[in-house]
Amino acid sequence: MAENPPDTDFDATLRDIRRSLDDLLAFEGRYFIVPEEVMVPEAAFVQVPAGASEAVFVADVADTTDVADLETFHQQICECVRCPLGTTRTRFVFGSGNPTADIMFVGEAPGQEEDRQGLPFVGAAGELLTKIIGAMKLSREDVYICNVLKCRPPNNRDPQPDEVASCEPYLQRQIELVQPRVICCLGRHAAHALLKTDAPLSRLRGKLHQYQGIALVVTYHPAALLRNADYKRAAWEDVKWVRKLHDGMEL
Ligand code: URA
Repeated sequence: MAENPPDTDFDATLRDIRRSLDDLLAFEGRYFIVPEEVMVPEAAFVQVPAGASEAVFVADVADTTDVADLETFHQQICECVRCPLGTTRTRFVFGSGNPTADIMFVGEAPGQEEDRQGLPFVGAAGELLTKIIGAMKLSREDVYICNVLKCRPPNNRDPQPDEVASCEPYLQRQIELVQPRVICCLGRHAAHALLKTDAPLSRLRGKLHQYQGIALVVTYHPAALLRNADYKRAAWEDVKWVRKLHDGMEL
């Protein structure tokens, strides 16, 4: 029987193109990427550390959350004035979604629309996050979404270290109560707060981190994806990985 010819660069390129087209279908079908935006096919694929994903998604995390606890905690802290943002906010933005979710998305801080509605990710970046979650074959009700800061920084400026320090215990308690199986940090501020690092996003993406025994993946903030569509290809790899860590599903 004739031997298979050796794999060539051409074969590898063809495989990459096929994979890119599959991903395009997933994105476009769910309007993750608007049709007029064209992805850069050579964008990096995330290297999953060998064996890492399986080790995580088979882990059986006991579901002992008392749903009422999260709401009680919300009520306890919603008048917070531990930092000056407590005096400038319109609404305290605690978090939303499934209080026993396996996947928790952590963003940076409320923006104008979030401050107005008291809910996380309900502005333009939030619309994109909703589409990303849809492309993961999930809904916002399946996951839990919150931010490092619970109050809006004026003019959407970056969170200050003292604000993060004041608000951080709230995020830590939310994670304890929700007990997610996977945390997805949206952007560097969430990653820096949870991983206690100041490494650039480029060094944090594509690695499996741990936060107190919980798998943690870092990806781009949806606002960054709105500013630069070229990042969407890589973000799709990240969130596919999150889904795989969650329940083994390969998107
Ligand atoms: N950006 C964030 O980081 N969080 C929000 O809730 C909205 C925009």
